[in-house]
Amino acid sequence: MSHEHVADPTAAYTECKQMAPGASAAVGHTIENSIPLSIFPIRADKFCICVCGLPGVGKTSISRRLARYLEFFHAVPVEVFNASEYRRRICGVWSNAKWFDPTNAEAAQHLATVNSACLADMVAFINANANGVAILDSASLNATHAKRLHILQSIYETGAKVMFIEVSNETQGFVVPYDSPDYEGVEREAAEQDYCERVAKYRQQYEPLDVPSNGEAQKKESKWSYLKCDHQRQKFVLNRVEGYLQLKVVHFIINLRTTPHKFFFSRHGQSQYNAVGRIGGDSGLSPDGLAYAHKLAEFVQTNIVFDESGRQVPARLWTSSMRRTRETAQFIAQDRLNIQDEDDPTLEHEWIQMRPRAWHHLDELFAGACDGMTYEEIEEQFPEEFARRSVDKLAYRYPRGESYLDVIARLEPIIIEMERHKEPLLLVGHQGIIRIIYAFYMGLTRAEAPYVSIPLNCVIQLTPSAFNCIERRHDLYVPPVALAKDGQDEPKTQAQKEAEDRAYAKMVDAQSH
Ligand code: F6P
Repeated sequence: MSHEHVADPTAAYTECKQMAPGASAAVGHTIENSIPLSIFPIRADKFCICVCGLPGVGKTSISRRLARYLEFFHAVPVEVFNASEYRRRICGVWSNAKWFDPTNAEAAQHLATVNSACLADMVAFINANANGVAILDSASLNATHAKRLHILQSIYETGAKVMFIEVSNETQGFVVPYDSPDYEGVEREAAEQDYCERVAKYRQQYEPLDVPSNGEAQKKESKWSYLKCDHQRQKFVLNRVEGYLQLKVVHFIINLRTTPHKFFFSRHGQSQYNAVGRIGGDSGLSPDGLAYAHKLAEFVQTNIVFDESGRQVPARLWTSSMRRTRETAQFIAQDRLNIQDEDDPTLEHEWIQMRPRAWHHLDELFAGACDGMTYEEIEEQFPEEFARRSVDKLAYRYPRGESYLDVIARLEPIIIEMERHKEPLLLVGHQGIIRIIYAFYMGLTRAEAPYVSIPLNCVIQLTPSAFNCIERRHDLYVPPVALAKDGQDEPKTQAQKEAEDRAYAKMVDAQSH
């Protein structure tokens, strides 16, 4: 006879609570709300990205932008290894193309030292960082099949996966890096001539990725993981790429525009809620807000839609879906332009200048149960919530609302869209939203982002380039009567003030470089 064990439903149980998703990922203290896991590092394989191609095709810009994207949106430790910087550190500045001649034995010896220093650091970085992504940005280290094979062999022992990204620009050729340290103090014309020679020397030795070289019949790199890209022609070849982060990389790179573009960010004009210190809501503009909206429309005409030669250039306008941003954009002129097709000049299409596109993704951080309250009311009615927010403004999620981390997660697609377009963009948004986008472009950390100053009545102009991001602030409107409140003067803790000071100092520092 068998006795089945029947569980006693009244038996004592041990309490074992489920942690909020993502809460355990928070470092240093306990987070009680869940955190979007998408913005924490995925436990992916370590991996190494080798960016190759001829000089002047945009490898450095792509490497740096990719590094920033992975760091900010995917929280992975990333390091860019720029071989030219190693060369300058080890051998000094080379402003004569003779050093890039493949038959120059002395140069080859120097380059061998540079290459092994760079590779050794890369291997050390990969070994020291779980989830680390190393990006090798080099025209010389990656130039031939033999050199690429050497990289694979050097990295093999770390267990990191290697992916090659070959950048080419068949239509435009190359861009002379006049601001490179190699040409400091060199006349533009001389720099141009030297750089042309340098590129020619590289052409002599460069073996395109996975193309049979020197009369050989066989392709040798078909089993490797790679992405070949020509952004100008929008031509991409993908080979053996798999994995979450790897495909995020591909997604980002394919959407990148390699031509420089300008961004203009503006908060909405003062809203009726701002005027009485209430957060959130969906109110319309106050009289001061409307006055700013007129100023903004003038600014667009004088600073955005015309180029230096006075020609109207296509430009874009994005708002959130909320009343206050749409009302702020309402006076911006929407002229019709005829645009010539890039490939076939006999074709034209119509472009509506600054046609507003409203995004829910750009809506202000949602304060949930606290929406529509003043900071004082929140402190009075939800003292615990208020205190929690001041301890960790980045991860704190309002009851039934959002945190800044939630906002970061929903802004990733916006950044991809911003990178995809080439036209100047005016984004009329909200304080919390612009803080995150600004922090991404200015190289601030996520923790610094919630404290960045984004004042009303001001347009922030950013021009990202390979080496930095240039910022200009345009104050467009001073209210005739000083505002009683615009919702920005929430009481701050010491930690918040210090974080604000750090973010400010970093911003000033970034601008001075
Ligand atoms: O006060 C204006 C506002 O845009 C609010 O709607 C929003 O809650 C707040 O700013 C975001 O700023 P902070 O995160 O500093 O409270």
